[in-house]
Amino acid sequence: MVDIISIFIGSVLILMRDFIAAMVANASPVFLNRGTPIDRGRVFVDGRRLLGDGKTFEGYFLGLFFGYTVAVAESLLLNDSHYIIYGMMGALGALVGDSVSSFFKRRLGLKRGAPLPIVDQLDFYIGAAAFMWLVGWRPPRISYFLGAALIIIIVHRLTNYLAYRLHLKDVPW
Ligand code: CTP
Ligand code: MG
Repeated sequence: MVDIISIFIGSVLILMRDFIAAMVANASPVFLNRGTPIDRGRVFVDGRRLLGDGKTFEGYFLGLFFGYTVAVAESLLLNDSHYIIYGMMGALGALVGDSVSSFFKRRLGLKRGAPLPIVDQLDFYIGAAAFMWLVGWRPPRISYFLGAALIIIIVHRLTNYLAYRLHLKDVPW
């Protein structure tokens, strides 16, 4: 029991300390409803869109802008310059991870916005961790890293259900 509580606390702490810029970068583009698609309408060898209309230049710009802002603010607040580089790489990695999953969703024949559970929720997290890893970031404990992934999935489900109940979304997932 004590173990579970300490893993939970450690997981929440790495989300708030190490992934805040990535989470902000991931959430920022959602408010856009149109923009210039990064694939510019191009299709892959399978005849399907490379990424689709849901990945735009404007989305990258917004995500990087807010992600970098958070990274700078955090490093000033914690008085630790590591968080600038971690936050900037985390924000970029989050957006790239999200685009990589769109690439694979299109290959599976899924239309823009079609749900792919787990992948949809964790793509940004894996992308952010991979990019931060390149600049020396390491999770304090592997159990915190896995615990944080579980928390992301649960929080996603809860917020989507809430948005559905508030009539902001048409489906509860
Ligand atoms: N968005 C964007 N640019 C990005 C990422 C997201 O403009 N690089 C915007 C798009 O309007 C997108 C919305 O944020 O529709 C939600 O993002 P996401 O859920 O990642 O895209 P989906 O529409 O679900 O598309 P996909 O099926 O490719 O995941
Ligand atoms: Mg989606």
